[in-house]
Amino acid sequence: MPQIEWLDQYSVGVESIDNQHKELFERINRLLDACAQGEGKKVLPEVLDFLGDYVVFHFSTEEKYMKEYLYPEYLAHKKEHDNFVETYKKFREEIEKEGAGVSAVIKTNRLVVDWLKNHILGTDRKLGAFLKEKMPSK
Ligand SMILES: [Fe+2]
Repeated sequence: MPQIEWLDQYSVGVESIDNQHKELFERINRLLDACAQGEGKKVLPEVLDFLGDYVVFHFSTEEKYMKEYLYPEYLAHKKEHDNFVETYKKFREEIEKEGAGVSAVIKTNRLVVDWLKNHILGTDRKLGAFLKEKMPSK
């Protein structure tokens, strides 16, 4: 089964953000595993919570940095986060309704993995380049 794998190109150049992104990848992999293994009704909500909670925590970390260092593109970046939180809610409802299986893996890859990769490679790397200049220690 396809798993989300960390690559050097995902580094935004700020260690604390990179570490959180790596943790997100781990949690997505747990979800992908649960979906692929057709885990029962108990496990799925747990792994969805496990990932969803960390997404919220991670976004708030980035937003805190953006505010602290007066990032000029804060609002546009935050909007992307807010939109994803909405998407994740709908995604979660669908996955829980359909249950684990191949279609859940496909959906996770399409709605979560692809979004995160694109967001990191574009929006977060731009933020990382800005923060690297501003932060006394990364
Ligand atoms: Fe972000």
